[in-house]
Parts: sequence; C-alpha cells; structure tokens
Amino acid sequence: MQYETISVTQPDNGISLITVNRPKKLNALNKNTINELHEAFKTAEGNPEVKVIILTGVGEKAFVAGADISEFANYNQVQGEELAAKGQRLLFDFIENLSKPVIAAINGFALGGGLELAMASHFRIASATAKMGLPEVSLGLIPGYGGTQRLAQLVGKGLAIEMITTASMIDAQKALDSGLVNHVVPTDQLLETAKSIAGKITKNSPVAISAALKAINANYQKTTNGYDVEIKAFGACFATQDFKEGTSAFLEKRKANFSGQ
Ligand code: COA
Repeated sequence: MQYETISVTQPDNGISLITVNRPKKLNALNKNTINELHEAFKTAEGNPEVKVIILTGVGEKAFVAGADISEFANYNQVQGEELAAKGQRLLFDFIENLSKPVIAAINGFALGGGLELAMASHFRIASATAKMGLPEVSLGLIPGYGGTQRLAQLVGKGLAIEMITTASMIDAQKALDSGLVNHVVPTDQLLETAKSIAGKITKNSPVAISAALKAINANYQKTTNGYDVEIKAFGACFATQDFKEGTSAFLEKRKANFSGQ
C-alpha cells in the first residue's frame, strides 16, 4: 500500500520498520498519519512474516513532536473528546494490544502525542540526543492519547506529575534512569540496536510472545478506566479560554498568557 505520511518496509528476517515521515512538521501526527499508522499496524498484525515492528521517525531531529496542533486549534469540547477517543482506539490502544511486539526507536523529540506513541509501544530505545516530554498543559490541554495513564505506569506517579505539570522535557539519560526507555545509544547506532534486540525476539515462539503481551497488559485493566477519564477531561479543556490562548500562542509563535478561565 502507498502511504503519504509514513513509510513501511517489507519484513526482513521477521522485522518490519514503520517510519513517520513528515519532516517539515517534525513528524507531528495529523489525522492522515494516525489513519495510515493504524493501517500499517493492522497489516503487520495480519502478516505472518512479521514478528516484530520497529517504529521510528524520519531524520535525526524528531521521533514525533506531538499531535498536529494546527489541526485541532479550533475544535470544541465534543470534537476534542472525539479526537482523543478515536486516536486512542485507532492507534494507541491498538498498538498496545497488538499480538506482536512494537519497539519505539526514539531518534529525537518525542513530545505530547509523540511520547504517547512511544509509550503505547511495548518498549523504547532512545538516541543519546532524544528529548521527551508531555507539554500539553502549556497549550491549555492535557495529554489525550493515554499519556496520563502510561507515563505514571512507566516512571511512577511523582515524576509523571512533575513532567506533566511543568511541561518540561527530560533528556535520554534521565529517561533511562527513570525506566521510560530501556537503552540509550549513539544516534547512528539506534536502528542497529533496535534490530539486534528485535532479532532476539524473532527467535522465540510468536504464540507464546502474544500470550505474554496479553497477560502483561491485563495488569493495567482496572474497573475505573483512567483512559476514559482522560478522554472526558481532555475534551473539557477545549471549552476553556486557556486552550484557545495556548494553541493560538503556539501557532502565532508567542508566549501564552493564561487567564485560568
Ligand atoms: N503540531 C504542528 N506543527 C508542529 C508541531 C506540532 N506538534 N511541532 C512542530 N511543528 C511545526 C512547527 O510549527 C514548524 O512549522 P513551520 O516551519 O511551518 O512554522 C515546524 O514544525 C518546525 O518546528 P519549530 O518549532 O520551528 O522547530 P524548533 O526546533 O524551533 O522547536 C520543538 C522544536 C519540538 C521544541 C517545537 O516545535 C515544539 O515545541 N513543538 C510542539 C510540541 C508540543 O507542544 N507537542 C504537543 C502537542 S499536543
């Protein structure tokens, strides 16, 4: 299949590489990219020759710099809620519940939806220059693609709250120390390292790996669904003046001045 915003390699020794390819927008996720990624993961899931998927971004600057802010800056509460719900269903939950391991190779900025995409993957490897964060509150928003849930699962509640409320980025070493990524390597060794780990996975039983992923994920399914709470709270942000101010300020390349309304 021909894609516009991503590229996908044919499986090579069981490993397929999916690359987000919008370099001029730092690989930000627009609707088309989300749909194309969904299609690519669905195809990989159904192809018995694919045993492991590596997900990365084109170039050395960005893995994915977030959801495409220009696309949702004029959304209202209902549209905001739909954006989060659809994205979670089509891509983020879809990846987490895939029967094949997905390794995120973080080659630069992984911010907002970009870090959420890396966190929905089964584990992460970062280049030494990568930077990660969930800066949504600087736009008058909260993470809406599972970030409030998965960041706390990976790094613990305290650091997750600090990262989300300060909107700050952490570097690759801090991400390694906090368990957000499993390995940090020089940029030119990132894909090689991801492929070497993927190669170890391909030697094992796909049926058993699928069962293991299912069992590990089961631990995170609780009666109060934090992902649903996140979707509602994300949607509610779209009814605030702070959201209008935050997204306008980004698009107008100025500092936001929040009124708290
Ligand atoms: N959505 C839409 N466009 C984005 C984007 C996003 N999340 N992230 C970057 N871009 C665009 C910029 O608007 C710019 O486009 P332009 O050249 O048409 O003006 C282009 O990508 C390059 O980004 P720029 O900001 O000029 O690069 P930089 O090196 O100065 O800064 C970042 C890099 C990552 C720090 C900065 O782009 C940024 O803060 N991005 C937004 C991150 C964010 O808030 N993500 C969460 C979204 S919910």
